[in-house]
Amino acid sequence: PAPGWAIEADVVVVGSGVAGLTAALRCAAEGAKVTVVTKAKLDDGSTRWAQGGIAAALGDGDTPRQHLDDTLVAGAGLCDENAVRTLVTEGPDAVRRLIASGARFDTSQATGEILLTREGGHHRSRIAHAGGDATGAEVSRALVDAVRQAGIETVENALVLDLLTDAEGRTAGVSLHVMGEGQRDGVGAVHARAVVLATGGMGQVFSATTNPAVSTGDGVALALRAGAEVSDLEFVQFHPTVLWLGPDAEGQQPLVSEAVRGEGAHLVDADGVRFMQGQHELAELAPRDIVAKGIMRRMHETGADHMYLDARHFGAEMWERRFPTILAACRANGIDPVTEPVPVAPAAHYASGGVRTDLRGRTTVPGLYACGEVACTGVHGANRLASNSLLEGLVFAERIAEDVTSSLRAPGAPVVPAPSRDPLLEPAVRYEVQRIMTEGAGVLRSAESLERAGAALARIQEQAVEALERDEKTAEPCVESWEATNLCLVARVLVAAARRREETRGCHWREDRPLRDDENWRRHLVVRLSPDSA
Ligand code: SIN
Repeated sequence: PAPGWAIEADVVVVGSGVAGLTAALRCAAEGAKVTVVTKAKLDDGSTRWAQGGIAAALGDGDTPRQHLDDTLVAGAGLCDENAVRTLVTEGPDAVRRLIASGARFDTSQATGEILLTREGGHHRSRIAHAGGDATGAEVSRALVDAVRQAGIETVENALVLDLLTDAEGRTAGVSLHVMGEGQRDGVGAVHARAVVLATGGMGQVFSATTNPAVSTGDGVALALRAGAEVSDLEFVQFHPTVLWLGPDAEGQQPLVSEAVRGEGAHLVDADGVRFMQGQHELAELAPRDIVAKGIMRRMHETGADHMYLDARHFGAEMWERRFPTILAACRANGIDPVTEPVPVAPAAHYASGGVRTDLRGRTTVPGLYACGEVACTGVHGANRLASNSLLEGLVFAERIAEDVTSSLRAPGAPVVPAPSRDPLLEPAVRYEVQRIMTEGAGVLRSAESLERAGAALARIQEQAVEALERDEKTAEPCVESWEATNLCLVARVLVAAARRREETRGCHWREDRPLRDDENWRRHLVVRLSPDSA
Protein backbone atom coordinates (compact mmCIF):
# COMPACT_ATOMS: atom_id res chain seq x y z
CA PRO A 1 0.00 0.00 0.00
CA ALA A 2 1.14 3.56 -0.72
CA PRO A 3 2.28 5.52 2.35
CA GLY A 4 -0.40 7.94 3.60
CA TRP A 5 2.01 10.15 5.59
CA ALA A 6 5.75 10.77 5.84
CA ILE A 7 8.28 12.05 8.37
CA GLU A 8 11.55 13.58 7.21
CA ALA A 9 14.79 12.70 9.07
CA ASP A 10 18.50 12.22 8.45
CA VAL A 11 18.58 8.82 10.12
CA VAL A 12 15.77 6.42 10.95
CA VAL A 13 16.53 3.87 13.66
CA VAL A 14 14.22 0.85 13.60
CA GLY A 15 13.98 -0.72 17.04
CA SER A 16 14.40 0.51 20.58
CA GLY A 17 16.58 -1.98 22.46
CA VAL A 18 20.13 -1.31 23.60
CA ALA A 19 21.44 -1.17 20.02
CA GLY A 20 18.74 1.07 18.56
CA LEU A 21 18.60 3.58 21.39
CA THR A 22 22.39 3.79 21.67
CA ALA A 23 22.65 4.43 17.91
CA ALA A 24 19.89 7.04 18.13
CA LEU A 25 21.51 8.87 21.06
CA ARG A 26 24.94 8.93 19.46
CA CYS A 27 23.66 10.05 16.04
CA ALA A 28 21.60 12.80 17.68
CA ALA A 29 24.62 13.89 19.74
CA GLU A 30 26.48 14.36 16.44
CA GLY A 31 23.72 16.70 15.25
CA ALA A 32 21.74 14.34 12.99
CA LYS A 33 17.94 14.52 12.94
CA VAL A 34 16.97 11.08 14.18
CA THR A 35 13.60 9.33 14.24
CA VAL A 36 13.24 6.09 16.22
CA VAL A 37 10.44 3.78 15.13
CA THR A 38 9.54 0.78 17.24
CA LYS A 39 7.00 -1.97 16.95
CA ALA A 40 5.34 -1.69 20.36
CA LYS A 41 6.33 0.65 23.20
CA LEU A 42 9.86 2.00 23.52
CA ASP A 43 10.78 -0.54 26.22
CA ASP A 44 8.98 -3.56 24.80
CA GLY A 45 11.85 -5.29 22.96
CA SER A 46 14.19 -8.08 24.05
CA THR A 47 16.66 -5.86 25.92
CA ARG A 48 14.40 -5.39 28.88
CA TRP A 49 14.18 -9.17 29.36
CA ALA A 50 17.95 -9.65 29.58
CA GLN A 51 18.77 -10.96 33.04
CA GLY A 52 22.40 -12.00 33.48
CA GLY A 53 24.14 -8.86 32.38
CA ILE A 54 26.83 -7.35 30.20
CA ALA A 55 30.18 -9.09 29.76
CA ALA A 56 33.27 -6.88 29.76
CA ALA A 57 36.83 -7.18 31.06
CA LEU A 58 36.28 -4.82 34.01
CA GLY A 59 37.60 -6.94 36.86
CA ASP A 60 41.06 -7.09 38.46
CA GLY A 61 43.30 -9.41 36.49
CA ASP A 62 40.85 -9.75 33.60
CA THR A 63 41.87 -8.56 30.15
CA PRO A 64 40.21 -8.09 26.75
CA ARG A 65 42.54 -10.85 25.53
CA GLN A 66 40.97 -13.38 27.93
CA HIS A 67 37.49 -12.22 26.97
CA LEU A 68 38.49 -12.65 23.32
CA ASP A 69 39.73 -16.21 23.96
CA ASP A 70 36.48 -17.25 25.67
CA THR A 71 34.40 -15.68 22.88
CA LEU A 72 36.39 -17.48 20.17
CA VAL A 73 36.05 -20.84 21.91
CA ALA A 74 32.27 -20.46 22.27
CA GLY A 75 31.99 -19.38 18.60
CA ALA A 76 33.34 -22.79 17.52
CA GLY A 77 35.70 -21.64 14.79
CA LEU A 78 33.39 -19.19 13.04
CA CYS A 79 33.95 -15.89 14.87
CA ASP A 80 35.52 -13.04 12.95
CA GLU A 81 38.54 -12.38 15.15
CA ASN A 82 38.74 -8.69 14.22
CA ALA A 83 35.11 -8.20 15.17
CA VAL A 84 35.65 -9.96 18.49
CA ARG A 85 38.77 -7.89 19.18
CA THR A 86 36.78 -4.73 18.52
CA LEU A 87 34.04 -5.93 20.88
CA VAL A 88 36.27 -6.85 23.79
CA THR A 89 38.66 -3.89 23.57
CA GLU A 90 36.00 -1.21 23.11
CA GLY A 91 33.56 -2.98 25.47
CA PRO A 92 34.80 -1.81 28.88
CA ASP A 93 34.66 1.89 27.92
CA ALA A 94 31.27 1.42 26.26
CA VAL A 95 29.95 0.02 29.56
CA ARG A 96 31.49 2.92 31.49
CA ARG A 97 29.78 5.38 29.10
CA LEU A 98 26.47 3.59 29.64
CA ILE A 99 26.94 3.99 33.39
CA ALA A 100 27.89 7.66 32.94
CA SER A 101 24.67 8.17 30.98
CA GLY A 102 22.58 6.96 33.93
CA ALA A 103 22.45 3.12 34.07
CA ARG A 104 22.84 1.90 37.64
CA PHE A 105 24.76 -1.37 38.00
CA ASP A 106 25.11 -3.43 41.18
CA THR A 107 28.18 -2.38 43.15
CA SER A 108 30.00 -3.58 46.25
CA GLN A 109 28.84 -1.73 49.37
CA ALA A 110 32.36 -1.93 50.74
CA THR A 111 34.38 -0.68 47.76
CA GLY A 112 31.82 0.86 45.41
CA GLU A 113 33.21 -1.28 42.57
CA ILE A 114 30.97 -2.95 40.01
CA LEU A 115 30.04 -6.48 41.08
CA LEU A 116 30.91 -9.12 38.50
CA THR A 117 29.60 -12.66 38.19
CA ARG A 118 30.26 -15.65 35.94
CA GLU A 119 28.22 -17.27 33.21
CA GLY A 120 28.71 -20.20 30.84
CA GLY A 121 31.93 -20.20 28.81
CA HIS A 122 33.60 -17.40 30.80
CA HIS A 123 36.75 -18.37 32.65
CA ARG A 124 36.47 -15.23 34.80
CA SER A 125 33.87 -13.21 36.65
CA ARG A 126 33.16 -10.51 34.06
CA ILE A 127 29.38 -10.10 33.93
CA ALA A 128 28.17 -6.74 35.25
CA HIS A 129 24.55 -6.82 36.42
CA ALA A 130 21.82 -4.52 37.66
CA GLY A 131 18.92 -5.03 40.05
CA GLY A 132 20.32 -8.52 40.72
CA ASP A 133 18.89 -10.22 37.64
CA ALA A 134 17.15 -7.29 35.93
CA THR A 135 20.06 -5.89 33.93
CA GLY A 136 18.17 -5.41 30.67
CA ALA A 137 15.31 -3.60 32.39
CA GLU A 138 17.77 -1.12 33.93
CA VAL A 139 19.66 -0.62 30.66
CA SER A 140 16.37 -0.06 28.87
CA ARG A 141 15.14 2.40 31.53
CA ALA A 142 18.34 4.44 31.36
CA LEU A 143 18.36 4.60 27.56
CA VAL A 144 14.64 5.38 27.22
CA ASP A 145 15.07 8.22 29.75
CA ALA A 146 18.06 9.55 27.83
CA VAL A 147 16.21 9.42 24.49
CA ARG A 148 13.27 11.31 26.00
CA GLN A 149 15.58 13.89 27.55
CA ALA A 150 17.36 14.38 24.23
CA GLY A 151 13.98 15.06 22.60
CA ILE A 152 14.50 12.43 19.90
CA GLU A 153 11.38 11.86 17.83
CA THR A 154 9.86 8.42 18.40
CA VAL A 155 7.02 6.57 16.69
CA GLU A 156 5.62 3.63 18.67
CA ASN A 157 3.37 0.79 17.48
CA ALA A 158 5.13 1.00 14.13
CA LEU A 159 5.95 -2.22 12.29
CA VAL A 160 8.60 -1.66 9.66
CA LEU A 161 7.66 -2.99 6.22
CA ASP A 162 10.22 -2.27 3.51
CA LEU A 163 13.34 -0.34 2.69
CA LEU A 164 12.63 2.67 0.47
CA THR A 165 15.03 3.79 -2.21
CA ASP A 166 15.27 6.91 -4.32
CA ALA A 167 15.19 7.11 -8.11
CA GLU A 168 18.94 6.46 -8.12
CA GLY A 169 18.55 3.28 -6.08
CA ARG A 170 19.97 4.80 -2.88
CA THR A 171 18.58 4.09 0.59
CA ALA A 172 15.84 6.63 1.28
CA GLY A 173 14.02 5.43 4.41
CA VAL A 174 11.46 2.81 5.38
CA SER A 175 7.75 2.23 5.02
CA LEU A 176 5.79 1.42 8.18
CA HIS A 177 2.44 0.12 9.35
CA VAL A 178 1.40 2.10 12.42
CA MET A 179 -1.53 1.22 14.67
CA GLY A 180 -3.44 3.68 16.81
CA GLU A 181 -1.08 6.66 16.72
CA GLY A 182 -3.54 9.36 15.67
CA GLN A 183 -2.40 11.27 12.60
CA ARG A 184 0.21 8.69 11.94
CA ASP A 185 -2.16 5.77 11.73
CA GLY A 186 -1.95 3.25 8.89
CA VAL A 187 0.82 2.87 6.31
CA GLY A 188 3.35 5.70 6.26
CA ALA A 189 7.04 6.35 5.77
CA VAL A 190 10.11 7.86 7.34
CA HIS A 191 12.30 9.39 4.64
CA ALA A 192 15.95 9.29 5.70
CA ARG A 193 19.33 8.97 4.06
CA ALA A 194 20.46 6.27 6.48
CA VAL A 195 18.49 3.40 7.98
CA VAL A 196 19.72 1.59 11.11
CA LEU A 197 18.05 -1.77 11.65
CA ALA A 198 18.00 -2.71 15.33
CA THR A 199 14.88 -4.85 15.31
CA GLY A 200 16.18 -7.68 17.53
CA GLY A 201 15.74 -11.37 16.94
CA MET A 202 13.41 -13.98 15.56
CA GLY A 203 12.76 -16.31 18.51
CA GLN A 204 9.05 -16.34 17.69
CA VAL A 205 9.83 -18.60 14.77
CA PHE A 206 9.76 -21.42 17.39
CA SER A 207 6.89 -22.41 19.70
CA ALA A 208 8.76 -21.84 22.94
CA THR A 209 11.25 -19.02 23.29
CA THR A 210 12.62 -16.55 25.78
CA ASN A 211 11.93 -13.77 23.25
CA PRO A 212 8.94 -11.45 23.58
CA ALA A 213 6.06 -11.64 21.09
CA VAL A 214 7.53 -8.80 19.01
CA SER A 215 10.64 -10.82 18.01
CA THR A 216 9.42 -11.94 14.60
CA GLY A 217 12.50 -11.46 12.41
CA ASP A 218 11.17 -8.26 10.81
CA GLY A 219 14.61 -6.74 10.24
CA VAL A 220 16.08 -9.84 8.63
CA ALA A 221 12.98 -10.17 6.43
CA LEU A 222 13.23 -6.51 5.37
CA ALA A 223 16.93 -6.91 4.61
CA LEU A 224 16.31 -10.05 2.56
CA ARG A 225 13.62 -8.29 0.53
CA ALA A 226 15.99 -5.35 0.02
CA GLY A 227 18.67 -7.65 -1.41
CA ALA A 228 21.08 -7.42 1.56
CA GLU A 229 23.26 -10.37 2.52
CA VAL A 230 22.25 -12.43 5.52
CA SER A 231 24.60 -14.90 7.18
CA ASP A 232 24.71 -17.73 9.76
CA LEU A 233 20.94 -18.04 10.23
CA GLU A 234 21.29 -21.74 11.03
CA PHE A 235 22.97 -20.87 14.34
CA VAL A 236 19.97 -20.45 16.62
CA GLN A 237 20.99 -20.49 20.22
CA PHE A 238 18.80 -22.47 22.59
CA HIS A 239 19.17 -21.26 26.16
CA PRO A 240 19.77 -24.33 28.36
CA THR A 241 17.74 -23.26 31.37
CA VAL A 242 14.30 -21.88 30.59
CA LEU A 243 11.57 -22.44 33.17
CA TRP A 244 9.70 -25.57 32.07
CA LEU A 245 5.97 -24.96 32.34
CA GLY A 246 4.68 -28.18 30.79
CA PRO A 247 4.83 -29.81 27.35
CA ASP A 248 2.26 -27.48 25.81
CA ALA A 249 3.72 -24.17 26.98
CA GLU A 250 3.94 -21.77 24.03
CA GLY A 251 5.24 -18.29 23.31
CA GLN A 252 7.56 -16.35 25.60
CA GLN A 253 8.82 -18.47 28.53
CA PRO A 254 10.60 -17.21 31.67
CA LEU A 255 14.39 -17.36 31.54
CA VAL A 256 16.44 -18.75 34.42
CA SER A 257 19.68 -16.87 33.93
CA GLU A 258 23.07 -18.50 33.44
CA ALA A 259 24.09 -16.33 36.35
CA VAL A 260 22.18 -18.71 38.65
CA ARG A 261 24.66 -21.39 37.60
CA GLY A 262 27.40 -18.75 37.80
CA GLU A 263 26.60 -18.37 41.50
CA GLY A 264 26.74 -22.13 42.06
CA ALA A 265 23.44 -23.80 41.10
CA HIS A 266 23.64 -27.42 39.88
CA LEU A 267 21.87 -29.12 37.02
CA VAL A 268 20.36 -32.40 38.17
CA ASP A 269 18.05 -35.06 36.77
CA ALA A 270 14.83 -36.27 38.43
CA ASP A 271 16.93 -38.46 40.79
CA GLY A 272 19.01 -35.49 41.88
CA VAL A 273 22.12 -36.68 39.98
CA ARG A 274 24.42 -34.00 38.56
CA PHE A 275 25.10 -34.81 34.92
CA MET A 276 27.31 -32.00 33.56
CA GLN A 277 30.37 -33.07 35.54
CA GLY A 278 32.69 -35.07 33.32
CA GLN A 279 31.16 -33.62 30.13
CA HIS A 280 33.26 -30.43 30.17
CA GLU A 281 35.94 -28.93 32.41
CA LEU A 282 33.52 -26.12 33.31
CA ALA A 283 30.63 -28.54 34.07
CA GLU A 284 27.42 -26.44 34.43
CA LEU A 285 29.36 -23.40 33.26
CA ALA A 286 30.40 -24.84 29.90
CA PRO A 287 29.39 -22.77 26.83
CA ARG A 288 25.63 -22.90 26.48
CA ASP A 289 25.48 -25.14 23.41
CA ILE A 290 27.31 -27.81 25.41
CA VAL A 291 25.01 -27.40 28.41
CA ALA A 292 21.89 -27.48 26.17
CA LYS A 293 23.18 -30.68 24.55
CA GLY A 294 23.99 -32.18 27.96
CA ILE A 295 20.43 -31.50 29.10
CA MET A 296 18.89 -32.91 25.91
CA ARG A 297 21.04 -36.06 26.15
CA ARG A 298 20.02 -36.66 29.75
CA MET A 299 16.39 -36.07 28.83
CA HIS A 300 16.69 -38.75 26.13
CA GLU A 301 18.49 -41.19 28.41
CA THR A 302 15.90 -40.86 31.17
CA GLY A 303 12.81 -40.30 29.00
CA ALA A 304 12.12 -36.99 30.75
CA ASP A 305 10.92 -33.79 29.12
CA HIS A 306 12.86 -31.52 31.45
CA MET A 307 15.71 -31.44 33.98
CA TYR A 308 16.14 -29.42 37.19
CA LEU A 309 18.26 -26.55 38.40
CA ASP A 310 18.98 -26.97 42.08
CA ALA A 311 19.86 -23.81 44.00
CA ARG A 312 18.14 -24.49 47.30
CA HIS A 313 21.51 -23.98 49.01
CA PHE A 314 21.38 -20.25 48.09
CA GLY A 315 18.76 -19.77 50.81
CA ALA A 316 15.92 -17.24 50.83
CA GLU A 317 18.06 -14.15 51.44
CA MET A 318 20.31 -14.75 48.46
CA TRP A 319 17.45 -15.64 46.15
CA GLU A 320 15.63 -12.44 47.10
CA ARG A 321 18.66 -10.18 46.81
CA ARG A 322 20.43 -11.68 43.82
CA PHE A 323 17.62 -13.12 41.66
CA PRO A 324 14.38 -11.32 42.51
CA THR A 325 13.00 -11.49 38.95
CA ILE A 326 13.56 -15.22 38.58
CA LEU A 327 12.26 -15.89 42.09
CA ALA A 328 9.06 -13.99 41.30
CA ALA A 329 8.60 -15.79 37.94
CA CYS A 330 9.06 -19.19 39.60
CA ARG A 331 6.69 -18.39 42.45
CA ALA A 332 4.10 -17.00 40.03
CA ASN A 333 4.17 -20.46 38.43
CA GLY A 334 3.87 -22.36 41.71
CA ILE A 335 7.57 -23.26 42.12
CA ASP A 336 9.63 -22.16 45.11
CA PRO A 337 13.36 -22.34 44.27
CA VAL A 338 14.23 -21.85 47.95
CA THR A 339 12.70 -25.21 48.83
CA GLU A 340 12.60 -27.19 45.56
CA PRO A 341 14.66 -27.63 42.37
CA VAL A 342 13.43 -25.57 39.40
CA PRO A 343 12.24 -27.52 36.32
CA VAL A 344 14.11 -26.32 33.22
CA ALA A 345 14.51 -27.21 29.54
CA PRO A 346 16.18 -25.52 26.56
CA ALA A 347 14.17 -23.04 24.47
CA ALA A 348 15.01 -20.77 21.51
CA HIS A 349 16.89 -17.74 22.78
CA TYR A 350 19.14 -15.90 20.35
CA ALA A 351 19.87 -15.62 16.64
CA SER A 352 23.66 -15.75 16.36
CA GLY A 353 23.37 -14.90 12.66
CA GLY A 354 21.53 -12.09 10.91
CA VAL A 355 22.10 -9.27 8.45
CA ARG A 356 25.76 -9.31 7.49
CA THR A 357 27.71 -6.19 8.41
CA ASP A 358 31.25 -4.91 8.47
CA LEU A 359 32.90 -3.47 11.57
CA ARG A 360 31.06 -0.18 11.09
CA GLY A 361 27.68 -1.86 10.97
CA ARG A 362 27.30 -1.36 7.23
CA THR A 363 25.27 -4.01 5.42
CA THR A 364 25.84 -4.85 1.78
CA VAL A 365 23.16 -2.29 0.80
CA PRO A 366 24.65 1.23 0.94
CA GLY A 367 22.93 3.39 3.54
CA LEU A 368 21.44 0.38 5.36
CA TYR A 369 23.06 -0.44 8.72
CA ALA A 370 22.30 -3.19 11.24
CA CYS A 371 23.24 -3.70 14.88
CA GLY A 372 22.25 -5.82 17.85
CA GLU A 373 20.64 -9.22 17.44
CA VAL A 374 19.40 -8.50 13.91
CA ALA A 375 22.99 -8.13 12.74
CA CYS A 376 25.71 -10.64 12.01
CA THR A 377 28.87 -8.67 12.81
CA GLY A 378 30.94 -11.83 13.17
CA VAL A 379 31.37 -11.65 16.94
CA HIS A 380 29.23 -14.68 17.75
CA GLY A 381 30.32 -17.24 15.17
CA ALA A 382 28.43 -20.50 15.63
CA ASN A 383 27.39 -19.79 19.20
CA ARG A 384 27.22 -16.53 21.14
CA LEU A 385 29.06 -16.32 24.45
CA ALA A 386 26.73 -15.46 27.34
CA SER A 387 26.16 -11.74 27.96
CA ASN A 388 28.03 -10.62 24.86
CA SER A 389 24.80 -9.44 23.25
CA LEU A 390 24.09 -6.25 25.23
CA LEU A 391 27.79 -5.45 24.79
CA GLU A 392 27.62 -5.98 21.02
CA GLY A 393 24.59 -3.67 20.83
CA LEU A 394 26.48 -0.93 22.68
CA VAL A 395 29.81 -1.18 20.88
CA PHE A 396 28.55 -1.53 17.33
CA ALA A 397 25.80 1.07 17.72
CA GLU A 398 28.47 3.60 18.66
CA ARG A 399 30.52 2.60 15.62
CA ILE A 400 27.49 2.97 13.37
CA ALA A 401 26.80 6.44 14.70
CA GLU A 402 30.35 7.50 13.83
CA ASP A 403 30.03 6.16 10.31
CA VAL A 404 26.52 7.48 9.65
CA THR A 405 27.22 10.98 10.82
CA SER A 406 30.48 11.25 8.89
CA SER A 407 28.99 9.95 5.68
CA LEU A 408 25.50 11.45 5.45
CA ARG A 409 25.24 12.49 1.84
CA ALA A 410 23.23 15.26 0.26
CA PRO A 411 19.49 14.66 -0.08
CA GLY A 412 18.84 12.32 -2.97
CA ALA A 413 16.34 12.10 -5.77
CA PRO A 414 12.63 11.60 -4.92
CA VAL A 415 11.65 8.41 -3.10
CA VAL A 416 10.15 5.73 -5.31
CA PRO A 417 7.28 3.49 -4.14
CA ALA A 418 8.37 0.24 -2.47
CA PRO A 419 8.19 -2.72 -4.87
CA SER A 420 5.11 -4.89 -4.44
CA ARG A 421 6.00 -7.91 -2.34
CA ASP A 422 5.03 -11.44 -1.62
CA PRO A 423 1.44 -12.39 -0.91
CA LEU A 424 0.62 -11.59 2.68
CA LEU A 425 0.05 -14.67 4.81
CA GLU A 426 -2.84 -15.15 7.22
CA PRO A 427 -2.00 -14.39 10.89
CA ALA A 428 -2.64 -18.04 11.87
CA VAL A 429 0.37 -19.06 9.74
CA ARG A 430 2.53 -17.88 12.66
CA TYR A 431 1.49 -20.93 14.71
CA GLU A 432 1.92 -23.29 11.78
CA VAL A 433 5.46 -21.98 11.22
CA GLN A 434 6.25 -22.35 14.94
CA ARG A 435 5.05 -25.95 14.98
CA ILE A 436 6.99 -26.83 11.82
CA MET A 437 10.17 -25.20 13.10
CA THR A 438 9.98 -26.72 16.58
CA GLU A 439 9.49 -30.21 15.14
CA GLY A 440 12.00 -29.97 12.33
CA ALA A 441 14.63 -27.33 13.11
CA GLY A 442 14.81 -27.19 16.92
CA VAL A 443 17.65 -28.16 19.24
CA LEU A 444 18.08 -31.50 17.43
CA ARG A 445 18.04 -31.49 13.65
CA SER A 446 18.61 -34.06 10.94
CA ALA A 447 18.54 -34.10 7.15
CA GLU A 448 15.16 -35.75 7.34
CA SER A 449 13.58 -33.40 9.89
CA LEU A 450 14.88 -30.37 8.01
CA GLU A 451 13.63 -31.67 4.70
CA ARG A 452 10.15 -32.08 6.19
CA ALA A 453 10.27 -28.58 7.63
CA GLY A 454 11.49 -27.10 4.34
CA ALA A 455 8.74 -28.83 2.37
CA ALA A 456 6.01 -27.72 4.79
CA LEU A 457 7.18 -24.10 4.70
CA ALA A 458 7.43 -24.17 0.91
CA ARG A 459 3.83 -25.46 0.76
CA ILE A 460 2.56 -22.51 2.80
CA GLN A 461 4.27 -20.12 0.43
CA GLU A 462 3.16 -21.91 -2.74
CA GLN A 463 -0.46 -22.02 -1.64
CA ALA A 464 -0.44 -18.28 -1.01
CA VAL A 465 1.17 -17.58 -4.39
CA GLU A 466 -1.35 -19.82 -6.17
CA ALA A 467 -4.25 -18.08 -4.41
CA LEU A 468 -2.84 -14.75 -5.55
CA GLU A 469 -2.51 -16.01 -9.12
CA ARG A 470 -6.15 -17.13 -9.03
CA ASP A 471 -7.01 -13.60 -7.90
CA GLU A 472 -8.36 -14.94 -4.62
CA LYS A 473 -8.34 -12.65 -1.65
CA THR A 474 -5.19 -13.00 0.47
CA ALA A 475 -4.73 -11.81 4.07
CA GLU A 476 -5.75 -8.30 5.07
CA PRO A 477 -2.72 -6.06 5.63
CA CYS A 478 -2.36 -5.84 9.40
CA VAL A 479 0.51 -6.23 11.87
CA GLU A 480 -0.28 -9.93 12.44
CA SER A 481 -0.25 -10.78 8.72
CA TRP A 482 2.99 -8.87 8.08
CA GLU A 483 4.52 -10.72 11.04
CA ALA A 484 3.36 -14.12 9.82
CA THR A 485 4.82 -13.31 6.39
CA ASN A 486 8.15 -12.27 7.91
CA LEU A 487 8.30 -15.37 10.14
CA CYS A 488 7.68 -17.65 7.20
CA LEU A 489 10.38 -15.95 5.10
CA VAL A 490 13.08 -16.10 7.80
CA ALA A 491 12.09 -19.68 8.66
CA ARG A 492 12.55 -20.75 5.02
CA VAL A 493 16.02 -19.20 4.85
CA LEU A 494 16.99 -20.62 8.25
CA VAL A 495 15.93 -24.14 7.27
CA ALA A 496 17.71 -23.89 3.91
CA ALA A 497 20.94 -22.94 5.71
CA ALA A 498 20.51 -25.68 8.34
CA ARG A 499 20.03 -28.24 5.54
CA ARG A 500 23.16 -27.09 3.75
CA ARG A 501 25.37 -27.21 6.84
CA GLU A 502 26.05 -30.93 7.00
CA GLU A 503 27.90 -31.02 10.32
CA THR A 504 27.39 -30.26 13.99
CA ARG A 505 28.94 -26.98 15.12
CA GLY A 506 28.17 -24.58 17.97
CA CYS A 507 24.44 -24.39 18.45
CA HIS A 508 23.65 -26.16 15.14
CA TRP A 509 23.23 -29.82 16.12
CA ARG A 510 22.70 -32.34 13.33
CA GLU A 511 21.94 -35.81 14.73
CA ASP A 512 22.84 -37.35 11.37
CA ARG A 513 26.16 -35.45 11.23
CA PRO A 514 27.29 -35.48 14.87
CA LEU A 515 30.84 -34.23 14.31
CA ARG A 516 32.34 -30.85 13.57
CA ASP A 517 33.82 -30.90 10.06
CA ASP A 518 36.48 -28.21 9.87
CA GLU A 519 37.75 -29.38 6.53
CA ASN A 520 34.52 -28.64 4.70
CA TRP A 521 32.50 -26.40 6.95
CA ARG A 522 34.74 -23.88 8.62
CA ARG A 523 32.93 -21.25 6.58
CA HIS A 524 29.81 -19.14 6.60
CA LEU A 525 26.61 -19.61 4.67
CA VAL A 526 25.63 -16.29 3.15
CA VAL A 527 22.23 -15.75 1.54
CA ARG A 528 21.08 -12.96 -0.69
CA LEU A 529 17.67 -13.15 -2.32
CA SER A 530 17.00 -11.80 -5.76
CA PRO A 531 14.26 -9.14 -5.52
CA ASP A 532 11.54 -11.38 -7.00
CA SER A 533 12.22 -14.43 -4.81
CA ALA A 534 11.47 -12.99 -1.36
C1 SIN B 1 21.18 -15.21 30.85
O1 SIN B 1 21.05 -14.38 31.75
O2 SIN B 1 21.36 -16.40 31.03
C2 SIN B 1 21.13 -14.75 29.44
C3 SIN B 1 22.38 -14.11 29.12
C4 SIN B 1 22.54 -14.05 27.65
O3 SIN B 1 21.70 -14.54 26.90
O4 SIN B 1 23.58 -13.56 27.23
